[in-house]
Amino acid sequence: MSETTAETGTWVAVCALEELTVERGAAALVGGLQMALFRTPDDAVYAVAQRDPFSGANVMSRGIVGTRQGEPTVAGPLYKQVFSLRTGACLERAGYEPLDGTPDLTTWPVQVVDTVVQVQTSHSRDQEDVKS
Ligand code: FES
Repeated sequence: MSETTAETGTWVAVCALEELTVERGAAALVGGLQMALFRTPDDAVYAVAQRDPFSGANVMSRGIVGTRQGEPTVAGPLYKQVFSLRTGACLERAGYEPLDGTPDLTTWPVQVVDTVVQVQTSHSRDQEDVKS
C-alpha cells in the first residue's frame, strides 16, 4: 500500500500519522523533493518546501508552528518570516527579501488514509521553475 493513483496524480506514502509530533516539523525526502511536514492540533498535515526562500537553507522543518487569524502558519527558524501552511504564501517578510523571486513556499497536497500520511508530488506549484 505505497501508492495510489488519483485523477490528479500520484500519492506517495511518507509515514504514519503518529510518527509526526503535533506542532513539530519533520523533514522528508519525497520523490527527490525536500519537504517539511507539519501536523497541527486538529490532526491536519501539511507539506511545504524544506528550503527557506529567505536564507536558502533547508531548515523549514525547524520552524515554529502557529496560527494567524485562524490560518495555520510556520515561522522560518532563521529570520522569522511567517508562511501559511495551507498555501505556502509568505504572510510576513520581517524586513527581508527572498533570495530568488518568490517569498512563498511550494506546497504539496497531503491526505491521511488509514493513518498513513500520503503526499502528492506530481503537482507542485513551481515544478516548471526548477533551476539547473
Ligand atoms: S510580506 Fe511576504 S509576500 Fe508580502
